[in-house]
Amino acid sequence: MILKEIVTPLLRWYHSHARILPWRENPNPYFVWISEIMLQQTRVEAVKPYFDRFISALPTVESLAEVPENELLKLWEGLGYYNRARNLQKSAQEIVINHDGKLPANYKKLLSLPGIGPYTAGAIASIAYQIPVPAVDGNVLRVITRLLASRDDIMKEKTRKKIESYLAQVIPANEAGNFNQSLMELGATVCLPKGAAKCYSCPLKQICLSFAEDCISEIPVKTPK
Ligand code: ADE
Repeated sequence: MILKEIVTPLLRWYHSHARILPWRENPNPYFVWISEIMLQQTRVEAVKPYFDRFISALPTVESLAEVPENELLKLWEGLGYYNRARNLQKSAQEIVINHDGKLPANYKKLLSLPGIGPYTAGAIASIAYQIPVPAVDGNVLRVITRLLASRDDIMKEKTRKKIESYLAQVIPANEAGNFNQSLMELGATVCLPKGAAKCYSCPLKQICLSFAEDCISEIPVKTPK
């Protein structure tokens, strides 16, 4: 399968091109969790100052579990989607009670926490704990459907599941977090939506079927919800 061929060039590219981000310098599970929740609806550049402020005020799971709600929401001001902050606190309380204050190093247990879906559980498990599970967000869906020149509808759950199963077969066990982040990073900086893709600087252009077939701008296929 073609996806096996992406691992080496992608990791090589990532090691020389990855942005330096606060939660990458110190991938402690709590930092990874907070950053991934913030990144669900907000771009990396916008998240950075909020992340730094949040972590300074609430540096541990315990501090998040205990903070008064009005202070928590104040820290979230500007990010929007306030349920994300409320779910963070609910999860933190559950983590203190049931997991000794540590984010579980287990995909299924992560998935059971409020506000953590398949993407976020995969991101935390792989980036914080090197567990070889996929983390498929919108960026990754675009990168993989283009690589395969697949016209599967990326709004469908079935498509995400299929891509997760392809990726699960190739995630390198010793670099699970870097591999997943390299796909996100490629989607966020090179394999951009519509006509904005920078294929000339893509480490996968020799492998990419959409590039070969000149159909980058037609993929991904996305039906309105
Ligand atoms: N988007 C969401 N999580 C990310 C991460 N860890 N790196 C880059 N982009 C992201």
